[in-house]
Amino acid sequence: MRDSFLPFSPPLIDDDEIQEVVDSLRSGWITTGPKCRQFEESFAARLEAPGALALNSCTAALHTALAVLGVGPGDEVITTTMTFCSTVGVIEHVGATPVLVDIEPDTLNMDPARVAEAVSERTKVILPVHYAGHPCDMDAIRSLAVTHEIAIIEDAAHSLPAKYKDTWIGQADNPACFSFYATKNLTTAEGGMLTGSPEFLEKARVASLHGMSRDAWKRYDKGGSWYYEVVMPGFKYNMPDIMAAMGLAQMRKLERMQERRRAIVARYLEELADLPLILPVERDEVESAWHLFPIRLKLDELSIDRNGFIDHLAGQNIGTSVHFIPIHTHPYFRTKYNWPDSDFPQAMAAYESLVTIPLNPSLSDDDVTDVVTAVRQALGRS
Ligand SMILES: Cc1ncc(COP(=O)(O)O)c(C=O)c1O
Repeated sequence: MRDSFLPFSPPLIDDDEIQEVVDSLRSGWITTGPKCRQFEESFAARLEAPGALALNSCTAALHTALAVLGVGPGDEVITTTMTFCSTVGVIEHVGATPVLVDIEPDTLNMDPARVAEAVSERTKVILPVHYAGHPCDMDAIRSLAVTHEIAIIEDAAHSLPAKYKDTWIGQADNPACFSFYATKNLTTAEGGMLTGSPEFLEKARVASLHGMSRDAWKRYDKGGSWYYEVVMPGFKYNMPDIMAAMGLAQMRKLERMQERRRAIVARYLEELADLPLILPVERDEVESAWHLFPIRLKLDELSIDRNGFIDHLAGQNIGTSVHFIPIHTHPYFRTKYNWPDSDFPQAMAAYESLVTIPLNPSLSDDDVTDVVTAVRQALGRS
């Protein structure tokens, strides 16, 4: 057994982040300002996105996008049951109705065939979630959106950087929402980024900061004017420069961190291949961001169940997680919508056997060996 606990996904912070944050603290400007603008520019450039708006979470980005598109009571938003609760929480926040669909068995992404069945006269948005960093089948989703004149808002919390065919997730004109939460591929502790067309982002910038026509940096900086107008009841979702400072340093090492992720994935795919597991896939037409490495136990070939497996790894000092508890099974949604499990056969089958093992650039080669060894032992195949 390892001497020390292997955390599931610690951030990779070094002197560069510390120096950038100190620079921000010493500069006299700590909230939204020059570092945010720089972070937005470097993020948009990396993804060849039409523009980017830094916010304080992906949840904030999703909420802002729905609000700016005017989604509200009477509207339906189609998304997946295999996601984090905030994807669906924001639909409730704008007063719209979430419509959940089942997933594809290989990628665990929303199944476009199920989306097609779920489209109604009231559908306003399709909200794909690129699960674990693997892009959804965007051609099929875009074709439905065009046919039925429905908007797309992408939950790209896991997918920095990921590519679908020749396009980066975030490169298209429709809104895409990224997360910089502590466990994500790039972190600002808490944070998010919204990409989309310049016209959309202009409205989103206003909506995300009290509905004010001018932000504080423009008002308080030299030459700024005290005057502003409130043009709508907005949110308080802006990213402070202290967080953007971390983001700038993290952007500079994103490629290095992704290279390390891919090297670890290659080892897992090779060293776990002979076990009674379903391993994650990367379809030919995509580049996954490899945010997570969710494995599924072939329960009919094993005497251990998912929880026993997690306990075994915890006993070996290895942290794991489960992505995700299907949304429709949470008490709030069960009570409100009474969605039956039988509407989500793929998600329910996956959930029963699903465990996410550590995948992050801080893992050493020895850490990866420890994970592989513990997985083999738990499955009785050491
Ligand atoms: C799929 C998905 N969407 C949205 C979020 C919310 O991100 P944030 O914590 O930045 O609001 C998460 C967070 O883990 C997530 O996994």
